[in-house]
Amino acid sequence: MQAGPKKARLEPNTMSIRGPHPNGPIQPRPLVALLDGRDCSIEMPILKDVATVAFCDAQSTHEIHEKVLNEAVGALMWHTINLNKEDLDKFKSLRVIIRIGSGYDNVDVKAAGEMGIAVCNVPGYGVEEVADSTLCLILNLYRRTYWLANMVREGKKINGPEQLRDAAQGSARIRGDTLGIVGLGRVGTAVALRAKVFGFNVIFYDPYLTDGIEKSLGITRVYTLQELLFQSDCVSLHCNLNEHNHHLINDYTIKQMRPGAFLINTARGGLVDEVALAAALKDGRIRAAALDVQENEPLVFASSSLKDCPNLICTPHSAFYSEQSVTELREMAAGEVRRAILGRIPESLRNCVNKEYFTPTTTWATSTDFDERSLEHPVFLKLRRHVKCAALLDLCPRPSQKHGLERWTGSGRVD
Ligand SMILES: NC(=O)c1ccc[n+]([C@@H]2O[C@H](COP(=O)([O-])OP(=O)(O)OC[C@H]3O[C@@H](n4cnc5c(N)ncnc54)[C@H](O)[C@@H]3O)[C@@H](O)[C@H]2O)c1
Repeated sequence: MQAGPKKARLEPNTMSIRGPHPNGPIQPRPLVALLDGRDCSIEMPILKDVATVAFCDAQSTHEIHEKVLNEAVGALMWHTINLNKEDLDKFKSLRVIIRIGSGYDNVDVKAAGEMGIAVCNVPGYGVEEVADSTLCLILNLYRRTYWLANMVREGKKINGPEQLRDAAQGSARIRGDTLGIVGLGRVGTAVALRAKVFGFNVIFYDPYLTDGIEKSLGITRVYTLQELLFQSDCVSLHCNLNEHNHHLINDYTIKQMRPGAFLINTARGGLVDEVALAAALKDGRIRAAALDVQENEPLVFASSSLKDCPNLICTPHSAFYSEQSVTELREMAAGEVRRAILGRIPESLRNCVNKEYFTPTTTWATSTDFDERSLEHPVFLKLRRHVKCAALLDLCPRPSQKHGLERWTGSGRVD
């Protein structure tokens, strides 16, 4: 049988997406850029049929390729780049930013909203990991496991009750102590549930919640930070960083804490004044502290104000990390980009955090007859991985090819 004329190849779901400039040419495939990373192996299978994906591996907008600044309609970002109003102004076509993570304090969400750029986060992806890491740090402070294990590794021989008493000095019983949770959101709640099992008397302070949650969880609510600090043997921070709580733990509030209390921060570095914490650790007002997040990340320990502090554990903003949580996080972030491309902004977005400031602009993804089901990629039905020939642009300005634009496939560079 003779073959008929070839049908024109249709790019499903992309024809409703217009280019960045209202009067400019129609762009069949929108450009989505990963701003501060290189690895798009999880995102590509989810986006390859609706977008061209570029990666910039930039630490600031100065390092972002012009093509991305001019044409990218979607941006994915980890927490190693900041986007203030000036940075956002540089993007000419941007319509959606997805924070690959839950905190979004590194983006000016108000300015973005006023520019018609929706900002989304991925809440909930690593709640178990952050809560487990928090308990791990709390247990280390109470049981001194980290320090005792280091002594053994360093060859110290601990023999008999006196030596053990000296080595394990400060080890404390958990049962009956009061754990004060600042911020009872997703992570704070997961920490509360775990802490109860260890025998903590759990109290919390969160001025943004309505009454009743304390009854569901069987914990105690206090209504001021001062009251929480006054009652707690161990304080754990789980609030989001916002314009009202920078340096929530400072010299003044440390003085309201019980002498010899513990402090744990797995939320955001900006919540703690590290100079004040260092002084309190040195004079024993705070017995020990554990910080997964710091004011300046990555932490350069040798030059930080915390460098000479005894009884301090610092981890590198790793509380959320597990292979499972990161895969989940990246799939969820890419899924939100996909919904932005195929649906309406902000209506189709699941986790838009700046709707209140959002001023819709023109032109992107405004098809009126889209099918909500088409917003989900089959990846979520477990058809996934191994991209063979998707378009991935390397827009990372390495010195040797600052102005070059290379095109890569899943298996290597093609031009
Ligand atoms: N270390 C990590 O790897 C990691 C990973 C994920 C999230 N985080 C951080 O953990 C924190 C909690 O995340 P989440 O998903 O539970 O957030 P969430 O939004 O679910 O909960 C935050 C809670 O803090 C409360 N809050 C805000 N300001 C407060 C204040 N001044 N005092 C008391 N409560 C206040 C809010 O009402 C909310 O209930 C965030 O700061 C987030 O950025 C860290």
